[in-house]
Amino acid sequence: MKNSVIYAFILCFMGVATSQTLKSPNGELEMQFSVKENGTPTYSLTYKNQAVIKSSALGFSLKNEEDLLNDFTVSGIDETSYDETWEPVWGEQKEIRNHYNEMAVNLLQKGTNREVIIRFRLFDDGLGFRYEFPQQKNLGHFVIEDEKTEFAMTGDHTAFWIPGDYDTQEYDYTESKLSAIRGLMEGSITENVSQTSFSPTGVQTTLMMKTDDGLYINLHEAALVNYPVMHLNLDDENFVFESWLTPNLEGDKAYMIAPSITPWRTIIVSDDARDILASKMIYNLNEPSKIDDTSWIKPMKYVGVWWEMITGKSTWSYTNDFTAVKLGETDYESATPNGTHGATTEHVKEYIDFAAENGFDGVLVEGWNVGWEDWFGHSKDYVFDFVTPYPDFDVKEIQDYAESKGVEMIMHHETSASVRNYERHLDTAYQFMKEYGYNAVKSGYVGDILPRGENHYSQWLVNHYLYAVKEAADYGIMVNAHEAVRPTGLARTWPNLIANESARGTEYQAFGGSKPNHVTVLPFTRLIGGPMDYTPGIFEMDLSKLNPENNSHVNSTIANQLALYVTMYSPLQMAADLPANYKRFPDAFQFIKDVALDWDESIYLEAEPGDYVTVARKEKGSDNWFLGNVNGETARTSKIKFDFLDKGQKYIATIYSDAKDAHYKTNPQAYEIRKVVVDNKSKLSQFSAPGGGYAISIIPAEKSETKGMKKL
Ligand code: NOJ
Ligand code: CA
Repeated sequence: MKNSVIYAFILCFMGVATSQTLKSPNGELEMQFSVKENGTPTYSLTYKNQAVIKSSALGFSLKNEEDLLNDFTVSGIDETSYDETWEPVWGEQKEIRNHYNEMAVNLLQKGTNREVIIRFRLFDDGLGFRYEFPQQKNLGHFVIEDEKTEFAMTGDHTAFWIPGDYDTQEYDYTESKLSAIRGLMEGSITENVSQTSFSPTGVQTTLMMKTDDGLYINLHEAALVNYPVMHLNLDDENFVFESWLTPNLEGDKAYMIAPSITPWRTIIVSDDARDILASKMIYNLNEPSKIDDTSWIKPMKYVGVWWEMITGKSTWSYTNDFTAVKLGETDYESATPNGTHGATTEHVKEYIDFAAENGFDGVLVEGWNVGWEDWFGHSKDYVFDFVTPYPDFDVKEIQDYAESKGVEMIMHHETSASVRNYERHLDTAYQFMKEYGYNAVKSGYVGDILPRGENHYSQWLVNHYLYAVKEAADYGIMVNAHEAVRPTGLARTWPNLIANESARGTEYQAFGGSKPNHVTVLPFTRLIGGPMDYTPGIFEMDLSKLNPENNSHVNSTIANQLALYVTMYSPLQMAADLPANYKRFPDAFQFIKDVALDWDESIYLEAEPGDYVTVARKEKGSDNWFLGNVNGETARTSKIKFDFLDKGQKYIATIYSDAKDAHYKTNPQAYEIRKVVVDNKSKLSQFSAPGGGYAISIIPAEKSETKGMKKL
């Protein structure tokens, strides 16, 4: 990793200051720090002289000791500037510039003689700040009862929000004014197997907002380590958000030992929605990679024995003979196979063949290991051992077959949220993977957490998810964790964390459907912290065709599904549908085969949360471009220029688009494919249907290849 670091200047003001200003490198953002008369620290933020965050308080209430809320004086201020360019192991672009001005405010609480530092980093795209508790005499162990960080909005903005919840993010987004959140809360809390909401005005980050003046404001956190997830609770009379941390089973928020730091609280802001998507501030606020040799970390395109279980066409379980399983005691050898088990050696080989024929890197298989007859809902501790296959799944035979076909197997560890059990088995499970040549694992945390009373997003669990990733790094294993904490840019530090779910993924299209504009919101919310294993690529939208008992409909067109490979950035991309459905639409499937996974450059061409996202990306180490547009509920024509292409070069563009009469509900499979010649002067006016979109591959061509072809 190449780091060029320029420390511009270091300034230190000793003595007492009550108000201090910090500007972003380009001067457009300005933050003000001050201490109120009662000694409460506050900050505010402006963008191009327009207020973004009004004066907002900072601090904590502590358990059984004096709060860290007021009585502070400034004992010193350190200012620095930083400008570096770093290369991510995988990503949307080859190089990322990390450029900010920093102000560290040293605070002394007079009565208790305790010190807190608040470190602000102001970038051109936003503000990050965190609390630091240096080693000191009067503050050692302490328990945070509540973090009292405020984000005071300037008015009743439009927000794209999901209900605050300690256990799940798997909700559809609601678009509403801040003042309408309370009234809409109940209706927005849809069913999930593990969920704990906490307040009628509590929402999750990443929270995306738009002001009436056209300002886009995005609130999240970066580098969430050894600390609970921050939600936001809204005072809907004054439009002030306050941080709301996820409690542990005793109701406490965070156990701290000085010296320590909190995650960064982040505010990304722009008057152009595209800048929010292009922002790399969250990654920049994370530490550089802690993995020295990253050569084993590779983007992957995969298929899997998965959608057939999600839709109910086949099962994870092997038998219907029993409903309770005691690992080691339940006799699987004499059980009657149910005939619907998906993960059989024979069936897996069909997927391996399909992957090999179509150039996929990997095959995921779920339901391969004993225990699925009784996998959640009973608060069961010893639910899986992660190493014992079902009698009809031959690990060695499958591994040899996959290897002979040049395909990698992807392991599946469903923990059923029995986290202690997973930690007990983790080393053995990873060793088993390595023994059989698995280099990537999809893990999952379905159901209520064990130890009982803990929540998916509490400090203990946040530590667990990172522990599983760090241990995996030691084994040379890549991790894709579902139902885990939503990402906060930690993949910069641990690039083997190649994806997470942590939002409402494609699986919900089989559980009743998601809103057709869901995928136009996710890039502004969930994807801000890191890639998502969204599992796109569904071609058959009528799921009763797979399972007559499933009457769910996939709210998307085929062209929209193709575009997701470009608009939902991830180094891990699944082609989630059944091979049989791809074989019905080989011309559309071609795009999934062709599309790249890793990029030198990404250019957001059009963006509006809830309505549309259009992005062009240049494949890493090649001159190929891929472009994707996803569209919300209303049909739209997007107008784009190809001026990002190399001057003088001709390209063949294959455009996969919605037919004129396409519609996510009534006509989702109506698509058109056309090939045209483009260069950097070309312009495109392209129709997208409701819940639709388009995908384009743009490949450099010799003059002779373009002869007789139509120019755009
Ligand atoms: C939920 C995950 O999101 C899904 O992908 C997986 O198939 C099931 N859990 C079973 O592990
Ligand atoms: Ca899930």
